[in-house]
Amino acid sequence: MTDINATTTGSASLGVAGAAEHPAVTAQGAALSVRHLVKQYDNASAPVLNDISFDVPAGQVFVILGPSGSGKSTLLRTIAGLEPIQGGEITMGGELLRQAQSAGKLRSASASDSTKVGMVFQSYDLFPNKTVLGNIMLAPVLVQKRDKASVQAEALRLLERVGLADRKDAWPHELSGGQRQRVAICRALIEHPQVMLFDEVTAALDPEMVREVLDVILELANSGQTMLIVTHEMAFARAVADHVVLLANGSIVEESDHPQEFFDHPHTERAQQFLATFTYDRGQRQS
Ligand SMILES: Nc1ncnc2c1ncn2[C@@H]1O[C@H](COP(=O)(O)OP(=O)(O)OP(=O)(O)O)[C@@H](O)[C@H]1O
Ligand SMILES: [Mg+2]
Repeated sequence: MTDINATTTGSASLGVAGAAEHPAVTAQGAALSVRHLVKQYDNASAPVLNDISFDVPAGQVFVILGPSGSGKSTLLRTIAGLEPIQGGEITMGGELLRQAQSAGKLRSASASDSTKVGMVFQSYDLFPNKTVLGNIMLAPVLVQKRDKASVQAEALRLLERVGLADRKDAWPHELSGGQRQRVAICRALIEHPQVMLFDEVTAALDPEMVREVLDVILELANSGQTMLIVTHEMAFARAVADHVVLLANGSIVEESDHPQEFFDHPHTERAQQFLATFTYDRGQRQS
């Protein structure tokens, strides 16, 4: 497990692609609210997420924990608009972002919707036929129709901040997994999302690469970016979280505004059981 100390990040901030120009990422902005969310996959006998509610204040880092299959990825995917929901609603800054549709279809997204939420996945989903810079610049230039020169300048600033300025012209296949994930983070950030979602972004990485990616996310947290993070890196979760949510069997079984207390003294049996899966007792070894 990676030993991350929250105070180890340098003072250089990722700046959330120029937070001052984008008030959505300041303290007054983008609170995300999930209300009575129900998600059931077609042909499934029961919902994966059943009446989930929580509020993410702007600038806060929520860490979502839970056993495999508990619906963590599904939760992030519904917030990102990648999955329709069958009940409840999701609002951002008071504005409706997603809601249940009787036909099970996604609410048609407005042009601004796509940029409210940025998501980085476990798999390095860079476009293989675009360079690093090309990957980062694609959406802001083609979708957001922003000025190419200023997008390029911002892309270079972001690459500098994640330590990859010298790889701007590299192709994805020339990068390590950790480098690809850092590019994927830049690609999401350049769209100035109000909320960033990270779904086990280090799960496929070697330990040293885990560290370099998590350090970037910690810096982002320190810069005030609102984030939801799904991770199995418990030391990192402890270091970065403002709030911890434990999902199991489609529900929130425990949550806490005091992550240290949650990790040291979980209240529910389910949380104790879950956290116990991350520790090994020498007494279990037969001599
Ligand atoms: N597209 C899909 N269609 C049908 N069922 C799905 C689909 N995606 C996920 N599921 C089911 O929904 C449940 C929750 O899956 P999900 O991927 O959200 O879990 P998770 O908490 O992210 O697990 P892990 O820690 O293994 O990534 C699982 O039972 C899974 O099999
Ligand atoms: Mg998952």
